[in-house]
Amino acid sequence: MTPLNEPVKLPCGLVFPNRLVKAAMAEALAGSGHVPTPTLLEAYNQWAQGGWGGLLTGNVQVDVDHLGMPHDPALHGEYTGKENNQALVELWSQYANACQQHGTPSIVQLCHPGRQSIRFAGRRGIFGATIAPSAVPMDLGEGIVQRFFSWLVFPPSKEMTQGDIERVTRQFVDAARLMADSGFSGVELHGAHGYLLDQFLNPKTNKRTDAYGGSAENRAKFVVDIIHSIRKVVPEKFAVGIKLNSADHSSSTFEDTMTQIQLLVDAGIDFLEVSGGSYENPKMMGREQSERTVAREAFFIEFATEARKRFPGLVLMLTGGFRTRAGAESAIKQNACDIIGIGRPAAIDPKLPRVLLDENVSEEEAQLVLNKIPMPFLAGLIPMKGVGAGLESKYYADQIKRFAMGLKTILPSAW
Ligand SMILES: Cc1cc2nc3c(=O)[nH]c(=O)nc-3n(C[C@H](O)[C@H](O)[C@H](O)COP(=O)(O)O)c2cc1C
Repeated sequence: MTPLNEPVKLPCGLVFPNRLVKAAMAEALAGSGHVPTPTLLEAYNQWAQGGWGGLLTGNVQVDVDHLGMPHDPALHGEYTGKENNQALVELWSQYANACQQHGTPSIVQLCHPGRQSIRFAGRRGIFGATIAPSAVPMDLGEGIVQRFFSWLVFPPSKEMTQGDIERVTRQFVDAARLMADSGFSGVELHGAHGYLLDQFLNPKTNKRTDAYGGSAENRAKFVVDIIHSIRKVVPEKFAVGIKLNSADHSSSTFEDTMTQIQLLVDAGIDFLEVSGGSYENPKMMGREQSERTVAREAFFIEFATEARKRFPGLVLMLTGGFRTRAGAESAIKQNACDIIGIGRPAAIDPKLPRVLLDENVSEEEAQLVLNKIPMPFLAGLIPMKGVGAGLESKYYADQIKRFAMGLKTILPSAW
């Protein structure tokens, strides 16, 4: 039997029936109301039939004023419990049911974009500032054109006050409680890809001199406090995980990252998903990864292997680059991770595990290899970091919409 077919149990007791988990992908299907829509539910209706060990939803923003993209789903205000919010719980329960109707445990990814909230996303208005641990401008390149685009897309950010920190903590807690009340199996905090939690963890974006800045421990305080506060309001069996960026081996932040993971483990996380990159350096999309890394599939396997050595009991999910049964099996057999996260291939074939996990399907056929999305000529003229990754995301979000609408998805190579 392929090891991919073995179940994984999280400390909270939740069991993923196999190792293939659909990674979070912002679906851009929540419309201007920023709520689960019939098209969004239909996408999950398809994924729910795919034979996945688990589903991670695309990011749900904890504050409708601060979205990552214009059509993200979001929390619209305080959540004070089921009794006072029956219509809201009913709406999100439909989403949970679409995901879990065939028994696939489903986990909602919760996010605050912080300084990466684009100007036109969120109800704070196009001149409204973003919030961040420190007012560090986005860096999409040095030239005048890059700096102009950077200013145009990302408004300047404001350093968060203690009040802001408490409000955002409450928003994460409210969102987790709503997801638990709606029947989801857990939440994953988006602590990767340069979003707000990552901004706190990372010394490049966290220049604070109070209890939330300075040492690795202080920079982790915001996230650790959120995890403790969530744990107080959700049932024991509700999973709480986090997606984190891998630190570069040679960088001085490697030990800091290990220290921070220890704190997350102590706070009681059920799993850690390893990814990497940000809008300023979108490594998660692999467009800039070496051919060797792409061929090996798992973009961040070295980091996962190191984290496994330090934290042997921690359930690790590794996301980025998996395209074949052989590649996924190899990562599990090397004991680099317990769970394989799959993003873009799941946008092309929502039922991919039916192929990868079927041992009657030959090794050569048990794969979905994808070409890079070609860069249009005009976009290529702007040498700005993140453009290729943005196009890549847009392409796959469009594919999610296509299969949700009953249309065939299109492989990038078919262009
Ligand atoms: C359309 C699209 C949307 C994405 N949205 C999210 C998101 O909401 N949260 C997140 O953590 N990662 C997001 N990602 C990144 C994926 O979860 C994953 O880390 C990345 O695509 C690499 O995995 P892959 O090579 O299997 O695609 C997104 C990726 C794509 C293509």
